[in-house]
Amino acid sequence: MAYTPTPLVIDTDPGIDDALAILLALASPEVDLRLVTTVHGNVELAQTTENALRVLHLAGRSDVPVAVGARSSLVHPLPGRAGHVHGSAGLGGVVLPPSPAQVDPRPAVTALAELLETSAEPVTVAAIGPLTNIALLVSVYPDAAARIGRLVVMGGSATRGGNVTGAAEFNVWADPEAAAVVFRAGLPTVMVGLDVTLPTVLTEAGIARFAAAGPVGARAAAILGQYLDHAKTTYGTAGVVVHDALALTEAIVPGTLGTVARDVVVDTGHGAGRGQTLVDRRTVSTAPTAVGVAERVDSAAAVEFLVGRMEQLAASLS
Ligand code: RIB
Ligand code: CA
Repeated sequence: MAYTPTPLVIDTDPGIDDALAILLALASPEVDLRLVTTVHGNVELAQTTENALRVLHLAGRSDVPVAVGARSSLVHPLPGRAGHVHGSAGLGGVVLPPSPAQVDPRPAVTALAELLETSAEPVTVAAIGPLTNIALLVSVYPDAAARIGRLVVMGGSATRGGNVTGAAEFNVWADPEAAAVVFRAGLPTVMVGLDVTLPTVLTEAGIARFAAAGPVGARAAAILGQYLDHAKTTYGTAGVVVHDALALTEAIVPGTLGTVARDVVVDTGHGAGRGQTLVDRRTVSTAPTAVGVAERVDSAAAVEFLVGRMEQLAASLS
């Protein structure tokens, strides 16, 4: 039976796992990547934007428009970036060939709003960086935001504490005020947090499989190299947690993760808990602002999905 791929937008701060997530989307016929919007985060905006252009070009998809978003958080500058994790240029020290494409002339929020207003089918938005652009969309184009079919957010943590501080996950910590706006906006949101990403480890063996499948797989594996080293030294794990790729897996195959409707509050204070997502797990929420918090994951199946799709992509481009 013929089916129509779901229109997809990725809002991103590439970023090593962002790069893998973008490639996974391009490898997946269930979705049609219509737009990439860039945001500050792991590295500065100019670099995340250049990285997005080059990752798309790596996969032969420089036709996908890239629109430039927010260069800084809504209210308070984020205390630091993640160059020590992703490399100073954001792709693990790997320099990809430059893309022939130019960025879209529209600001990211405008490009996203126009796509939402004109799409015949509901659009899935995968937000895998700080939520600054999505918060601006909600504030400036509320009618367009209300047309989002699904918002899949990589961010937050219900039970696993933080990865950038003891309390906060990086994307929420980078712009807590934006995350607060988004989580209380009443959009059909799935929160893919550390609870499900940390157990989902892409091993060296999995990386080797797509590295061997073709030059694009080898490049992706090279980009993951620094992430692998960081994971070994920081967590002592023989694999990498590709947070954003798990969020894209949920965007590509709805229901991959087990979610529960919860009330989520973001700590926007300036104490030790800043950026923490306080998830009320006492009850299943019926509030209009409830968020689908991912609480269950089949990590082995998710990793196999990612590796299999990356193998297919690499083979198709070799
Ligand atoms: O905490 C993980 C998130 O922070 C991922 O999106 C990663 O790319 C970084 O932005
Ligand atoms: Ca990211």
